[in-house]
Amino acid sequence: SKLPLIAPSILSADFAHLGDEVAAIDQAGADWIHIDVMDGHFVPNITIGPMVVKALRPYSQKPFDVHLMIAPVDQYIEAFSEAGADIISFHPEAGAHPHRTIQHIKSLGKKAGLVFNPATPLSWLDYLMDDLDLIMVMSVNPGFGGQKFIKTQLEKIKDIRQRITASGRDIRLEVDGGIDATTAPLAVEAGADVLVAGTASFKGGATCYTDNIRILRKS
Ligand code: DX5
Ligand code: ZN
Repeated sequence: SKLPLIAPSILSADFAHLGDEVAAIDQAGADWIHIDVMDGHFVPNITIGPMVVKALRPYSQKPFDVHLMIAPVDQYIEAFSEAGADIISFHPEAGAHPHRTIQHIKSLGKKAGLVFNPATPLSWLDYLMDDLDLIMVMSVNPGFGGQKFIKTQLEKIKDIRQRITASGRDIRLEVDGGIDATTAPLAVEAGADVLVAGTASFKGGATCYTDNIRILRKS
């Protein structure tokens, strides 16, 4: 089977040296840079906003995979687009009109992703498959790095993979949370083709990043 893309989450990087961390993880082989945006309202943690995304943009040419955990989400889409996001993903619970939010993201020339929390049903996909570029499964409850992979989400990954195949469309299936050398192969076997990894990418400091990413990709 094809090797998955690796999207290190900078939530686990050293925030005092974020630019250098993004450059280091890029050079270590990251395919995408995963940026977790939290508002202390939709999720119980506060991270970074569009100003920081913009400041990081010169440190990597890789796609910026921006995961918005903010509500209401719509009023910030443009700011993240202008800051340099390439992929913008949001949770369907975070706005009144997910279809409209997807159209908004695409009208800005960006790729649109929909994110499923562990308890969010797949029925949200019923009328949205035609417009999505990416579907993301949370294998932890969003808010923090370093949590344990929730195995019931493997069934959801399999279901989504079937829906993608049936759609005939080129939609990425990304899994976020608790990915390490043990859980990565489970997610890929279930049908994931992009793996987010925070703790597993950044552990040990910069001299370990290349090995960390290689281990995830080949596991
Ligand atoms: C959780 C974030 C994840 C998280 C992953 O709310 O969306 O991207 O940083 O971190 P690990 O890989 O440590 O579970
Ligand atoms: Zn994330």
